[in-house]
Amino acid sequence: MPEQRLRIAIQKKGRLSDDTVKLLKACGVKVNLNTQRLIAHSENMPIDILRVRDDDIPGLVMDGVVDLGFIGQNVLEEESMMRKVANEPTSHKVVKELAFGDCRFSIAVDNDFDYQGVQSLANLRIATTYVHILKRFMEEANVPYTSCMLTGSVEVAPRAGLADAICDLVSTGATLEANGLKEVEVIYRSTAVLMQRDEPLTGEKQELVDRILTRIDGVQTAKE
Ligand code: PRP
Ligand code: ZN
Ligand code: MG
Repeated sequence: MPEQRLRIAIQKKGRLSDDTVKLLKACGVKVNLNTQRLIAHSENMPIDILRVRDDDIPGLVMDGVVDLGFIGQNVLEEESMMRKVANEPTSHKVVKELAFGDCRFSIAVDNDFDYQGVQSLANLRIATTYVHILKRFMEEANVPYTSCMLTGSVEVAPRAGLADAICDLVSTGATLEANGLKEVEVIYRSTAVLMQRDEPLTGEKQELVDRILTRIDGVQTAKE
């Protein structure tokens, strides 16, 4: 029997969390998230909210484990590229572009690095979480490099001697500044999107999704 409640994945903790929860509230979805529980049931709609690491969200949607996911385009792009290489399912639909989560995916180096352009990165070791997006950029620029995959704390890599440069998300720039780094190349611009699993939902579930999409439109137009 198919799951009757609509399952939505959101980032548990990070740049997108607060805005995602705010948007759900503004859409009239009542849910108590003041617990450590991974799954929260909405009180007024047949919706379950799964709180997970952002990096897991695209895969959960592509594997059909959840129906919807709020995610940054960069994370979605990286997961798609990774799955293509591994021959794993990537199908999904982006059903809404969201008015939050703006960030850049940028290469940054030490403040005192004498940066002359992308060739200055030749043969350096670059730390990042998003190895495929970085690889595409470096190959297009035709600059050889070594990548160092870190799933977190990427910004400390240069000082820790793990890498010569980093490639990470920049929003306010506070993290770079706090770590004595400067942004030298913007390689990707991203905002948050709402993604849906590709297989058709039951009539009732799809109606609920359509209602949420209409409400998101209302909330986002009101803010413009
Ligand atoms: C990103 C990035 C930096 C921070 C940059 O992390 O990894 O840590 O945001 O933001 P700032 O320029 O405003 O300081 P994110 O919230 O995506 O979480 P994650 O690294 O845990 O996935
Ligand atoms: Zn992440
Ligand atoms: Mg981070």
